[in-house]
Amino acid sequence: MARKFYITTPIYYVNARPHIGHAYTTIACDTVARRQRMLGADTFFLTGTDEHGQKIERAAQAAGKTPQQYADETSGEFRALWKRMGITNDDYIRTTETRHKKRVQELFKRIRDKGYIYKGTYTGQYCVSDELYVDGAQPGDPCPICGRITETVHEENYFFRLSAFQDKLLELYANPDFIRPETRRNEVIAFVRSGLRDQSISRSTFSWGIPVPDDPEHVIYVWFDALANYVTAIGYGSSHAGAQEAFRKYWPADVHMIGKEIVRFHCVYWPAFLLAAGLELPKAIVAHGWLLFEENKMSKSRGNIVRAETILDVLGADALRYFLLREIVFGQDGSFSFDALVQRYNADLVNGLGNLNSRILTMIHRYFHGEVPYPSHSVAKSPADAAIADTAQRSIREFGAYFDQYQFSRALEAAWSLIAAVDRYIVENEPWSLGEKHDDVSRARLATVLYTSAEALRIAAALAHPVMPEATARIWEQMGLGDIRKLALADLAWGQLRLGTRLGSVSPVFPRADKSAIERMQQMEDQQRGTVADEAKAAESAAPVKTQPGQTVASAAANDGGKISIDDFARVELRVGMVKMAERVPKSDKLLRLEVDIGTEVRQVVAGIAEAYAPETLVGRKVVIVANLAPRKLRGLESNGMIVAASLEDGKPVLASFLEEVPVGARLK
Ligand code: MSP
Repeated sequence: MARKFYITTPIYYVNARPHIGHAYTTIACDTVARRQRMLGADTFFLTGTDEHGQKIERAAQAAGKTPQQYADETSGEFRALWKRMGITNDDYIRTTETRHKKRVQELFKRIRDKGYIYKGTYTGQYCVSDELYVDGAQPGDPCPICGRITETVHEENYFFRLSAFQDKLLELYANPDFIRPETRRNEVIAFVRSGLRDQSISRSTFSWGIPVPDDPEHVIYVWFDALANYVTAIGYGSSHAGAQEAFRKYWPADVHMIGKEIVRFHCVYWPAFLLAAGLELPKAIVAHGWLLFEENKMSKSRGNIVRAETILDVLGADALRYFLLREIVFGQDGSFSFDALVQRYNADLVNGLGNLNSRILTMIHRYFHGEVPYPSHSVAKSPADAAIADTAQRSIREFGAYFDQYQFSRALEAAWSLIAAVDRYIVENEPWSLGEKHDDVSRARLATVLYTSAEALRIAAALAHPVMPEATARIWEQMGLGDIRKLALADLAWGQLRLGTRLGSVSPVFPRADKSAIERMQQMEDQQRGTVADEAKAAESAAPVKTQPGQTVASAAANDGGKISIDDFARVELRVGMVKMAERVPKSDKLLRLEVDIGTEVRQVVAGIAEAYAPETLVGRKVVIVANLAPRKLRGLESNGMIVAASLEDGKPVLASFLEEVPVGARLK
């Protein structure tokens, strides 16, 4: 029976539309899943969406929708994007599906029956954005993950006896393969060694979640609900024989792939829940770093996302897949830029693999009527031919070894070193000159050179297939090799290209991208983000409420008859700041660049107040600043906060100020 392989992505929150940060994890998993299938494993690849919790409830409210409507829309967008990108997930789990809800309740009951869940009271800080209980934090303290101000919650809750699992978890981490990379493993070990407190696993102050069995006033904590998807999707807790069979077959997961910010949930809470339930543990949790854009983590709240669709429209899915896996060292943070994307695309794909394909196949068409020629065994052999065969065998070995360690960029480097070697081999052996000669020795040499080159091309394409499924499938067809998905990767070796194979017709696999491609993509993203409109708006008014739909008090209020709760207001951190420096932003009539001391730090703020205030009149003046606004770029300058002003009929802002003396850093409530 075939070996099984079960791989998962995190399930994505539906409060943000998909961007290439999400695509990064999904692409990495898809690549691993595809390779496993080519290696003959019975593979199950799961992704989906995380749809419950207070964050989603609030986002839906701000958008004037029911949470279910809201979740349906965004979940649909994720699903459609994965389909468009050719992602080969075997299932797509949504946490609002009945199958999931019932099975989560089963898991909860099982853990409760085993005595690991009890009722108690929780008073403490909570970050809604990360749906995280922040142990030891005081009111007003920021969330350790996102920096937003935490909210105080006081609730009667169900608690999970996490403290009972400290030793078992530490034993588990002794296995170096359980958490990768090493840095993340060390962080988790340090965290668990420092002591584990029981964890609240229900909420009762809102209702958008799965009811606690037998106590429907409470909903199950969204992370318990979400993590459980990894078992519910494959049948845990179902009474159907088929589902039970699937669970027995695929669980435990071979890999949970995640971003580094959710390591603690996956490496501490999830294994503890499973241990409590008496279920097997996943074999590995692999955490990658963040995709940065304009130096910050790409995220909706920072407003610096790049959508996958833009890249798909201009360069195609394979280009995005290759770039993300080749450019970024898996496990570390990496920057995304359109320049780097296009540069790599042209260098490695157009001039590298694509050019090699057209060159070799065109010559086989020209000199051998489109049939793979027979290399001579006796005459016209050169050590260079054997060297290519060796390089190819080494590439196969190295690619596999790196890939198994999730070192995608090094694996691809190994494949591309073969491409570079064949490029050199062709230049040195000049098949086009051999083709001009008609003596037997030259013909034999030409046959050997082209066979050797074509065989190396076949191997490079086979290795790259899980990373670039479309382009390599086309290369395969052009080489007359049929359906690449039928290739048994485990047997891939030098010398399998059959002599006399009839080539298909040759066409470029990667069209060249010029500078306009970069501009096009940038424009598409600018339009999407509405940065142009945003800048004008920011210049009109220094008030924060217009810039972050779904995030701010004003937009929440707009859908609720103008009323917001005190909690909503508390999310806006208004502080007294003092202007230390002010200057005009070049080429802008409306913008000033300010440096504002807010007590704990000096912030750069770009404000649309230049028409009302000369820069020199502002220095030393106290202002009110929205301190927890996500940073954004205006005219290429990062603005970290916003100055509050009254917006008057004539459009000129008037800065908020105080009659009494106030200390810098004081919070407005
Ligand atoms: N819903 C939780 C996960 C629950 S899993 C049981 C969640 N969702 S999320 O929508 O915020 O997605 C987080 C995941 O998306 C990250 O862990 C990572 O896989 C991916 N990424 C989102 N933005 C990213 C970057 N800027 N860079 C890299 N990965 C990113 O957390």
